[in-house]
Amino acid sequence: MEKITLHDKVFRPYITNQELSADIDAVAARINADFEGCDDVPLVLCVLNGSIMFTADLLKRLNFPLELNSIKMSSYVGTESTGEVKVTMGLTASLVGRRVIIVEDIVESGYTMEALKKMLEGKGASKTYIATMLFKPEMLKVKDLKVDYVARNIANDFVVGYGLDYNELGRNLKDIYILDK
Ligand code: IMP
Ligand code: MG
Repeated sequence: MEKITLHDKVFRPYITNQELSADIDAVAARINADFEGCDDVPLVLCVLNGSIMFTADLLKRLNFPLELNSIKMSSYVGTESTGEVKVTMGLTASLVGRRVIIVEDIVESGYTMEALKKMLEGKGASKTYIATMLFKPEMLKVKDLKVDYVARNIANDFVVGYGLDYNELGRNLKDIYILDK
């Protein structure tokens, strides 16, 4: 794999799609074990746009009855979180009394997930879980945030690909790339 340029920045290969697949197998097995035999129909909530690829790959591996819904949120401009979380597209399913598995691309400060969990619980969700493809544990600011399912921990660097963008570019890359310093 070679370096790539998106806008003004250069990124180098970091995690291959094959490695991501193995991580997703492992995290899906954990989720399946926890939800096995459930008699409710949990809602899987894809947080657009970033988690579109992870959601698609994860869903194919989940084997309990579930419903899919999507929500669009954003807090990032360029390579930094603004700290202000915006919901830019709403939910269509009723959440009352339901368990919700939030599917996220990456958790950094945790503000996005904290705000989303609060919102879902405010709309009546009985319990919310976070399943994230990537987690930057050293960047977590919301110390009491429970990140239930993590496919892979990474260091503090900015990454793109597999749904993740740099100012909207790079989402279509099947592997993950890291900012080249
Ligand atoms: P948080 O609210 O700080 O946890 O940020 C989470 C959101 O910021 C994620 O949903 C991503 O959309 C975005 N984000 C965080 N880190 C990265 C990164 O390294 N690359 C691209 N987007 C990122
Ligand atoms: Mg996101």
